[in-house]
Amino acid sequence: MKKFFLLFALFLSPMMAMANVGGCGEVHCESAPVDLHNKESLQNGAKVFISYCLGCHSAKYLRYERMAQDLEIDPKLVSEYMMFTTDKIGDPMDTKVDKKEQAKWFGNAPPDLSLETRLRSPDWVYTYLLNFYPDDKRPWGVNNRVFKDVAMPHVLTNMEQELGPEGYEEAVGDLVNFMTYMSEPSRTERESLGWWVLAFLAILFVPVYLLNKEYWKDVK
Ligand code: HEC
Repeated sequence: MKKFFLLFALFLSPMMAMANVGGCGEVHCESAPVDLHNKESLQNGAKVFISYCLGCHSAKYLRYERMAQDLEIDPKLVSEYMMFTTDKIGDPMDTKVDKKEQAKWFGNAPPDLSLETRLRSPDWVYTYLLNFYPDDKRPWGVNNRVFKDVAMPHVLTNMEQELGPEGYEEAVGDLVNFMTYMSEPSRTERESLGWWVLAFLAILFVPVYLLNKEYWKDVK
């Protein structure tokens, strides 16, 4: 029995540590409205991301062209209105800003966000973006309940004022939906491929079953 408890504790403690890492600082994690089939939400999120985040953060594992294809945005629109950091649609979303310079300006360099929702979870990023609050003691006049003493300014503050709490939540939801897509662009494809494979196996089962019956007919 003692051994059992020891083993139990051994497994439990790293699990609890992990749960803590995924926690949302001073607040409970809100559940992000992720729906990778909602193209309108993804398109809206892409707009917000490119207008408000790409100035400081890169997303170097995603190419504009791929995004245009997956989200069904006309590549011409992408070239004209969405590409500030580059001139070729086949380029990755990479800000050409010097990381060292950024670290000097902000204290910490803004990390690449390609895989952020996989690193932190969509819920964490969603809750983080909804939890900036005024704090005079911080360099940008804001602090964050999820990421204490964060070096990032509240870049969506104008949007929050314009849209009101509900509209803001919805826009941030779209943004996090897009960031979730970005962290694994082939997920929807892979999932639908999975269904085709299952359907194929189900259909294949019929002749295999009949053949099997046919082969054993005379043996029995
Ligand atoms: C003015 C520059 C700037 C802009 C614009 C900006 N950020 Fe940041 N961001 C930062 C900096 C600097 C950090 C690093 C904070 C730290 O480590 O203290 C950061 C950190 C983050 C983190 C936490 C990264 C981690 O450590 O896991 C997330 C998530 C994030 N930003 C998302 C966004 C999103 C989404 C947008 C667009 C709405 C955005 N940021 C726009 C500067 C910026």
